[in-house]
Parts: sequence; structure tokens; C-alpha cells
Amino acid sequence: MAESKETPETADAPEAAKKVRLSLSKNKRVTIAVIVVAAVAVLGVAGYTWSTTPGFCSSLCHSPMANYVAGYDSDDPGLGITVHKAAGMNCLSCHDRSTVRQLGEFAHWATDSYQVDEEGFLVKDESMLTKEFCTREGCHTWDAVVDSTWGFAGNDEKYNPHASHQDGSITCNDCHKIHTTNELYCAKCHDMELPEGWVATSE
Ligand code: HEC
Ligand code: HEC
Ligand code: HEC
Repeated sequence: MAESKETPETADAPEAAKKVRLSLSKNKRVTIAVIVVAAVAVLGVAGYTWSTTPGFCSSLCHSPMANYVAGYDSDDPGLGITVHKAAGMNCLSCHDRSTVRQLGEFAHWATDSYQVDEEGFLVKDESMLTKEFCTREGCHTWDAVVDSTWGFAGNDEKYNPHASHQDGSITCNDCHKIHTTNELYCAKCHDMELPEGWVATSE
């Protein structure tokens, strides 16, 4: 402030003016830095949020992902994914977004080396369709699942898909598919009512 009051006649006037400019430009620099940091933070948060959405999974790099997102957005009651969507879950509620995995996916995409079945779905990852995965913290409680499925879908009370003479010989994936249509394995042999949207496993 003192410098700015000096008259142009004084010998050190140019020096004083320079100081004023310097201090102004320092303030400006600080302001610009603050704006840049804020902008990067806003974009970063928006970008991160977007990267967690189903749209991101199919738009950026995943052409084979389109089927998975279409199922998620459908109202098909025969898909496990729609039930989970209704419960507020998105892709990353179940899928790992670790960097290593994403790099691996990127490499597959870049080299066009995805293996898909005739319906356009990737090779099933059965390690995820297990009791351990579905009953992890915050998800399903096994005893409650068994208790709630006696006489499921209007069938006789003696029928429970989770407690029968088949236990031990079938896996969750024999019925639950998550991204493709669920099948009732028991209906291979028994005449049973199917839950809405499900199909009977054919021989
Ligand atoms: C309720 C949990 C759950 C949610 C939510 C979910 N998935 Fe899955 N996903 C699974 C399970 C279980 C499998 C293994 C069975 C299979 O491969 O179809 C799987 C398999 C996959 C596979 C093939 C195997 C792999 O890991 O490469 C892809 C691709 C996939 N999901 C994409 C998605 C996308 C995209 C979304 C969101 C639109 C999504 N998933 C949401 C549970 C889920
Ligand atoms: C023989 C077929 C079959 C097998 C195998 C099977 N399920 Fe199910 N599951 C069903 C049917 C049928 C329902 C009821 C669906 C409905 O009424 O919409 C169901 C419902 C569920 C539910 C929802 C229950 C609720 O609380 O509403 C969960 C969770 C579940 N199963 C998990 C599993 C897991 C985990 C495994 C493997 C350990 C498994 N299921 C094996 C057929 C099966
Ligand atoms: C490979 C064929 C086959 C499959 C698959 C199968 N069952 Fe059975 N089940 C039988 C036969 C055979 C019997 C004994 C004869 C009978 O009474 O129908 C039987 C008997 C039963 C019984 C005893 C009561 C009754 O109806 O006699 C129940 C309950 C039962 N099954 C439930 C299930 C459930 C639940 C599933 C699916 C998880 C299933 N079964 C899958 C063939 C099968």
C-alpha cells in the first residue's frame, strides 16, 4: 500500500511499481491456483462418480458390456440383476474395480480378445456365484434364504430350492445366473411352478 502512494518523481518509483505488480501478480497466481485446484477436484469427483455408474462400464471401453447394462436397465424379472438394481445396487456393488483388473480388461478390449458366447456374454465367472460371495457381510443371510423359500413361487411347502436331496450335487449357478435368465433346475424332473420370468432347466 505504502508503495502505491509514492509519486512518479521519486528515484525508486519504478522499483516500487514493480513491487506492486509483483504482489498483485502473486495474488492472481494464488487465485488461479485455487480455481484450478477446485476445477480439478470438481471434475475428479464427477469423473469418479461417473466411473462407478453402469453407463461408464459400457460407454468407454466395454462393447461386450452392453448386454450386461441392457439387462440391468431392463425390467426382466427373470434376471437376478434387476432384483439387485431394485435394491439400489450398481455394477461395482458386486464387481471389483481394482486397477489390476481394469488394466486386464483394457488389454482385452484393446486387443479385441474377449471371448463371448453365442448370446454375446463373456465367459461366466463362477467364482462369484457362490454361497460365500452372496452371504458376505451386508448381503444375504443363508438361514434366512432357506427359511423364506419353502413353497417358493406358490409350490407345495415340501419344495425348497435351497434344501433338498439335490444339495451337494448342484451349485447356485445351476439356477441363479444374475445376468442371464434364471433356471429352475428342479423342474428338470418335478412339475413345479416357476418364479416369474424364470425358465425350467431342460434335460
Ligand atoms: C448382484 C451382484 C452383481 C451386480 C450388481 C452386477 N454383477 Fe456382473 N456378475 C455377477 C456375478 C455373480 C457374475 C458371475 C456370473 C456370470 O459370469 O454371469 C457376474 C459376471 C459379470 C461379467 C462376466 C464375468 C466377468 O467378471 O468378466 C460381466 C462382464 C459383468 N458381470 C458385468 C456387470 C455390469 C456391467 C454390471 C452393472 C450393469 C454388473 N455386472 C452388475 C454379479 C453382479
Ligand atoms: C435349484 C435352484 C436353486 C439353487 C441351486 C439355488 N437357488 Fe437361490 N433361489 C432359487 C429360487 C427358485 C428362489 C426364489 C426366487 C423367487 O421366488 O423369485 C431363490 C431365491 C434366492 C435368494 C433370495 C431369497 C430371498 O430372501 O428372497 C437368494 C439370496 C438365493 N436364492 C441365493 C442362493 C445361493 C447363494 C445359492 C447357492 C448356495 C442358491 N440360491 C442356490 C433357486 C435356487
Ligand atoms: C434328476 C431328477 C430330479 C431333480 C433334478 C430333482 N429331483 Fe426331487 N426327486 C426326484 C425323484 C426321482 C424323487 C423321488 C420320487 C418322487 O417322489 O417323485 C424326488 C423327490 C423329491 C422330494 C420328496 C417329496 C416328493 O415329492 O416325493 C422333494 C421335496 C424333492 N424331490 C425336491 C426337489 C427339489 C427342491 C429339487 C431342486 C433343487 C429337486 N427335487 C430336483 C428327482 C429329482
